[in-house]
Amino acid sequence: MKRLSKRTLERMLKKAIEASEKAYAPYSGFQVGACLRASSGKEYGGCNIENAAFTPTTCAERTALFTAVFAGEREFDGIAIACSGERPAFPCGVCRQALSEFCSPEMPVYCCGKDGIGELMTLGDLLPKSFGPSDLGERG
Ligand code: THU
Repeated sequence: MKRLSKRTLERMLKKAIEASEKAYAPYSGFQVGACLRASSGKEYGGCNIENAAFTPTTCAERTALFTAVFAGEREFDGIAIACSGERPAFPCGVCRQALSEFCSPEMPVYCCGKDGIGELMTLGDLLPKSFGPSDLGERG
């Protein structure tokens, strides 16, 4: 696992909690926030944004990832995810795949429920044997 200091992880968790307060989640009532740390040192927040048609709903992790990529970031050192549930919510399959495009399997993923008690793992733990750019050969 790539290393992040305890202080950095705690600050990222605080930012993820703040991001979760911006969630637009009128249908599920489940608020999620993410703080994605780029290798530049900048940190990008994201929240879940739901939709009346349900399918277009976007998770907090992808909001943070796409915001960061749009800002020009391409490499990341870690992500903290906070949710309003009793226990930590781990990224959904779509977010695991989206993150794996830009983040290494060693990247720390820190997930917390509403009590702020976290579980630390890596992206590779969550998505082993992922399909990635190198699978496309010369096109990747
Ligand atoms: N959600 C996230 O934002 N991240 C996750 O990792 C899991 C689920 C959101 C999507 C939806 O708005 C709500 O949580 C309930 O599924």
